[in-house]
Amino acid sequence: MSENRCQTAILISGSGTNLQSFIDRAACGDIELDLSVVFSNRPEAFGLVRARSAGIATTCFEHGDFSDREEFDRAVAAKLDEWQPELLVLAGFMRILSPWFVEHYQGRILNIHPALLPAYPGLDTHQRVLDAGEKWHGSTVHFVTEELDGGPRILQGKLSVDSSETADELCARVQAIEHQIYPEAANWFGQGRLEFKDGSAWLDDKRLDEPVVSDFD
Ligand code: GAR
Repeated sequence: MSENRCQTAILISGSGTNLQSFIDRAACGDIELDLSVVFSNRPEAFGLVRARSAGIATTCFEHGDFSDREEFDRAVAAKLDEWQPELLVLAGFMRILSPWFVEHYQGRILNIHPALLPAYPGLDTHQRVLDAGEKWHGSTVHFVTEELDGGPRILQGKLSVDSSETADELCARVQAIEHQIYPEAANWFGQGRLEFKDGSAWLDDKRLDEPVVSDFD
């Protein structure tokens, strides 16, 4: 662990392929982030196995053990704060955050959402995109605010949809993009190039009125 790298907590609920992309990029010195701790709200999440294999501390609470959302979030934050994280990376963390939690880490939480936000917030995005006959799909890295999937957008990876593919095939192509764009955007934060200011995302001292878009076709 290096003291001048950005101390980063990664929050997951499942398989953790995005977490793996951070582990791999950090291992080859590609990103200036120290992956301090991985938190899961599900003990069976495979991402916890990935984290332990990489020698990263893990911690897990189940929300069913708490009386309400904020009580759970306060317990999570109290635990995470033992590592003094500067950045929280939500990587398939399928929990809605309480306003208290968002405020506690204001401007320091990133999320990745599998759609070209503001299109298709919420769940089941790949099937909804196919059902609507969309030409374009992708994924968006954004800052987290109290508005679900509504915080300032930072970086999008975009691809064209093949109308004959299944939702699973489309999901796999979108996830391959996520594994490239998410560590990259988080690294901008670690380098001090990306910040949340006045309710907007700023990159290299310029406000991002639109996200940076990478075309993966
Ligand atoms: C990712 O595709 C991510 O975009 C999505 O969950 C998947 C997690 O995969 N996140 C959301 O849907 C959040 N609303 P992973 O566990 O293999 O990284």
